[in-house]
Amino acid sequence: IWDMHSFVEMATREIREKVGNGRCICALSGGVDSTVTALLVSRAIGDNLTSIFVNNGFLRKNEAETVLSFLKKLGLKVDYVDASSRFLEKLKGVVDPEKKRKIIGEEFIKIFEEEAKRIGKVEFLAQGTLYPDVIESVSFKGPSATIKSHHNVGGLPEVMKLDLVEPLRELFKDEVRELALELGMPEELVWRHPFPGPGLAIRILGEITEDRLRILREADAIVIEELKKSGWYRKVWQGFAVLLPIRTVGVMGDERTYDHVVALRVVDSVDAMTADWTRLPYDVLARLSMRIINEVDGVNRVCYDISSKPPSTIEWE
Ligand code: XMP
Repeated sequence: IWDMHSFVEMATREIREKVGNGRCICALSGGVDSTVTALLVSRAIGDNLTSIFVNNGFLRKNEAETVLSFLKKLGLKVDYVDASSRFLEKLKGVVDPEKKRKIIGEEFIKIFEEEAKRIGKVEFLAQGTLYPDVIESVSFKGPSATIKSHHNVGGLPEVMKLDLVEPLRELFKDEVRELALELGMPEELVWRHPFPGPGLAIRILGEITEDRLRILREADAIVIEELKKSGWYRKVWQGFAVLLPIRTVGVMGDERTYDHVVALRVVDSVDAMTADWTRLPYDVLARLSMRIINEVDGVNRVCYDISSKPPSTIEWE
């Protein structure tokens, strides 16, 4: 592909031509796609872009703080909305994966609309849609359109009648990362694993409660930390923990326990359309299991997911 420097020039010019003096908003998650999008757009139109960062309460441990400080350093104008309790309330008792996505998607749109109204006179919406998203949402149209309704594709523009700005439409993930480095994003942000819009909500199988969120958040933090320490974080596409909706029997000292099970999911992939489970070394797996069981209150068993996509998906919901 063409070199990234000229891509930046070209994309900036195109955005400027399209948006002119109009106001643009974008949803920022701190992920590489949305951040690169925001950086490109802000390069083109400066403060006429407001990036909205909604905390839906399903972020990882310390994620909101970390991301916010990164974004500020990058010079983006960020509107931070902490809507954690609002989302948690809406999801009470909901176990169906698609319902979770639908509720989170709708609530997200509501918040986004409220913010847009507050900002006023918004005409454009910037989105970090990548080439595989474009293909996947086209080729999955029809009966299978709802295999999984990724909430970051579509939805917002139709509801809000905004013109779309999608500077990454023709890029693959590895190209976006290259672009991110070109734009001066810190390595830590550039190499962050993909994280779904609905966040931990779709990794908690069954009902989402504050306690189950705490368990998954702690387990997830250990997974990330150990993958980084062992040098595997950068080698894999994604690695995370999933909280299963069952309890199993265990033993601690003289006591019988009846506690939660965490599944580990670590996969290799190039574009998330297909994936294979990562052959992590046994000692890495052993450390992960030992640390999660010892350190996360309420977990007494850890399993490793050895399924590829297809027929499994990367996420469990
Ligand atoms: P699946 O589970 O479909 O995941 O194999 C493929 C990639 O997409 C991510 N993913 C999502 N991202 N909203 C998102 O923004 C979603 O609802 C969603 N579901 C899955 C997943 O993490 C993987 O990288």
